[in-house]
Amino acid sequence: MISIRRTHQQDCDSIREVYINAFASEENKTVASLALDLLGEKTTPQTIALLAEKNGNVAGHIAFSPVTFDSLNEWTGYILAPLAVKPAFQNCGIGSKLVASGVAQLTNEGVNILFVYGDPKYYNKFGFSAENAAQYVPPYKLQYPFGWLARILSGKNLSENNVRISCVNSLHRPELW
Ligand SMILES: CC(C)(COP(=O)(O)OP(=O)(O)OC[C@H]1O[C@@H](n2cnc3c(N)ncnc32)[C@H](O)[C@@H]1OP(=O)(O)O)[C@@H](O)C(=O)NCCC(=O)NCCS
Repeated sequence: MISIRRTHQQDCDSIREVYINAFASEENKTVASLALDLLGEKTTPQTIALLAEKNGNVAGHIAFSPVTFDSLNEWTGYILAPLAVKPAFQNCGIGSKLVASGVAQLTNEGVNILFVYGDPKYYNKFGFSAENAAQYVPPYKLQYPFGWLARILSGKNLSENNVRISCVNSLHRPELW
């Protein structure tokens, strides 16, 4: 059985293990430290981190942190980062459940837009698109611009262009972009 729950500080070792196993050695430590740094972010609105367990074993993790927009204060957004599922548990719907669970919570809270910087082939099926993200400028120049995606959770997307977004401190590392 797969269950999804909020993370606690005591989950640090399990979270690190998810990322060290799921990502290749060139980037696994960077992404693991992002996941752990986010656990310590005190933000308003809150940063959300979820852990997936299968039959009591930690299988995957996801985090969502708030973003702000220059010159806009009524439009609310989050970014999904990072996400991983341990190889032994992949392809059985755990990644999808983690995304869906966070999306449901953010939608319920009235969040307008959710960004992700990832593989469009994976995220398109959850309703993320480059088109939705096109008018938003991420904090750093992207290594893979085609991976800049967004999903509208509520309301109608903005018509302004070149809207700059700011992220929480843990994401202010150029190597993540
Ligand atoms: C990406 C990841 C989180 C998916 O987790 P998962 O639990 O295996 O995902 P699900 O079971 O919900 O979905 C599996 C489907 O996604 C597909 N998929 C997985 N990774 C993909 C990718 N990078 N691009 C396209 N499709 C991908 C699988 O082929 C499978 O397709 P199917 O449903 O048509 O068979 C997991 O593979 C992982 O941790 N990968 C390494 C870390 C990583 O790349 N994380 C960031 C994602 S951009």
